[in-house]
Amino acid sequence: MAKKQAHSDHGPTGKAVGHVNGNEPAATDASHSRVAELSNLLDQAQTQLHATLEAKEMADRDRAMLAHELRTPLTAIMGFADVMRTELLGPLGHEKYRGYVKDIHCSAQHVLQLCDAVLDLARAQSEEIPIEPVDIRIADSVDKALSMLGGMAVEYGIKLETEIAPDFPILHTDRHMLERALINLVSNAIKFTPRGGRVTVVAKVDPADGAVILVISDTGIGIAPEDLARVMRPFVQIKAAQNGKRPGSGLGLPITEALVRRLGGEFELRSKPGVGTAATIRFPRAIQRAA
Ligand SMILES: Nc1ncnc2c1ncn2[C@@H]1O[C@H](COP(=O)(O)OP(=O)(O)OP(=O)(O)O)[C@@H](O)[C@H]1O
Ligand SMILES: [Mg+2]
Repeated sequence: MAKKQAHSDHGPTGKAVGHVNGNEPAATDASHSRVAELSNLLDQAQTQLHATLEAKEMADRDRAMLAHELRTPLTAIMGFADVMRTELLGPLGHEKYRGYVKDIHCSAQHVLQLCDAVLDLARAQSEEIPIEPVDIRIADSVDKALSMLGGMAVEYGIKLETEIAPDFPILHTDRHMLERALINLVSNAIKFTPRGGRVTVVAKVDPADGAVILVISDTGIGIAPEDLARVMRPFVQIKAAQNGKRPGSGLGLPITEALVRRLGGEFELRSKPGVGTAATIRFPRAIQRAA
């Protein structure tokens, strides 16, 4: 996960730089330093927590448990930070406090997103979570995914396109799982495609065996052959692709693969560095709604 940029004013030691001017009493300055220190400690805790959650030796079950346990205090921290940010109970009193509160909210939000992704992976891999099949018009699900990610596409300067075969059948499967897989793949395609590029979602049926095929392709940076298998593992992100500003925690692809498998399908990633990537989901004919 890209580390957040601190908004506060820190010195080379990592401690807050106190600005003493003639108008500020010393006690106020000391409390600024204290809050800045707290904000720094939270930053360190965030880094430590990432490392713990990402540690290979940690069992999936323990990781899911830790993520679950952390959700409640993180939600509370975010709630309190929000009350302070909006000055609901009174003014914060100093401009710097606003920066610290923003940092605290931002740190908590990052860790909360990481916890949610860890829990999503555990759920996708668990046989105990039931599949709830409903009839699905793929055009609706694709529209939903693309409109959710429309803002991101505009921000990254990417054109979104769809090619849905006119005879594409109604599917009978778990809507939430299918849409989550689509969203993960389209968001990757947008994130890893340079400005001016294109992301296309194709839905078609294999005439040979009636298999249902969804392909999400992009004109992006691509993935080197030696990294193709690696990126399917939790927490793996290709450093060169991050460019210092691509958000995420390296869980989208493993979650997607687990979801697709859970729905009885197969997932495949093909890529050519500098040309683009195509992610293919293939479901057996049986996923089509019975006539
Ligand atoms: N379409 C793509 N083009 C190029 N590289 C990709 C693409 N999709 C994934 N990758 C590479 O694979 C890595 C893992 O992808 P994955 O979706 O699991 O994690 P993420 O997108 O970094 O974070 P998250 O999905 O948790 O927000 C990415 O960090 C990136 O390096
Ligand atoms: Mg992703």
